[in-house]
Amino acid sequence: MKKNVRKAIIAGNWKMNKTRPEAKALLDELKPLVADVKGVEIVACVPFTNLETALAAAEGTNIKIGAENCHFEKSGAFTGEISADMLAEMGVEYVVLGHSERRQYFNETDETVNKRTKAALAAGLKPIVCVGELLWERECNITEEVIARQIKLDFFAISKEDVKKCVIAYEPVWAIGTGKTATADQAEEVCAFIRAQLAKLYDNDTAESITIQYGGSMNAKNAEDLVSKTNVDGGLIGGASLKAPDFTTIIKAAENG
Ligand code: 13P
Repeated sequence: MKKNVRKAIIAGNWKMNKTRPEAKALLDELKPLVADVKGVEIVACVPFTNLETALAAAEGTNIKIGAENCHFEKSGAFTGEISADMLAEMGVEYVVLGHSERRQYFNETDETVNKRTKAALAAGLKPIVCVGELLWERECNITEEVIARQIKLDFFAISKEDVKKCVIAYEPVWAIGTGKTATADQAEEVCAFIRAQLAKLYDNDTAESITIQYGGSMNAKNAEDLVSKTNVDGGLIGGASLKAPDFTTIIKAAENG
């Protein structure tokens, strides 16, 4: 990994898990385990209801807190939604956008991912924008076409300065929650492809500075192999981020990666 040019980021995506007491317990367990970690940004992206608890638990530590989505409008009649400003005001730093579960179950499109990314940036949040192909798309040999389209649309009309504040997570949909991890070579191939697309849309320096994570059944056993790859700058971790010792092992792998 090119640690001299870009930051390794290990982010947990808790998804719809953990009550407030459980969230506090998990972060309290994690804190001492990762207190001495250097050179890796540690993020926990938690359900909206856990944000305040998580921010309090992580205060004064090296753990940053993120949300799992935000709406693209600043305010208004959008029952059940949360704006980027609401998150920023709380002290939330990161927000996951365009996760495949949002695309699959909540009809999110590249257009709304693009709008959400712009709203998050305007509020001062750091978006973690997720892209990835379906199994069927990989089998049809169109992974690169799918990823190129997502990158182009999700970052449409986002400036060079702003894209540098974003993190991209490559999450092949077939690897999420399935126990089927992409091989390190598959992850590297697509992460390098994403970087090449960014170089085309922006420039080489910009592309080289952006953190590109891998996500999809990343765990304590396979993390080292994945993060050792040049273009894999960390991970977005679901299931394994709910277990403090496993999440710590992944973080330490990135420290050495
Ligand atoms: P799993 O690590 O549980 O496969 O989830 C990956 C993911 O979707 C992270 O956003």
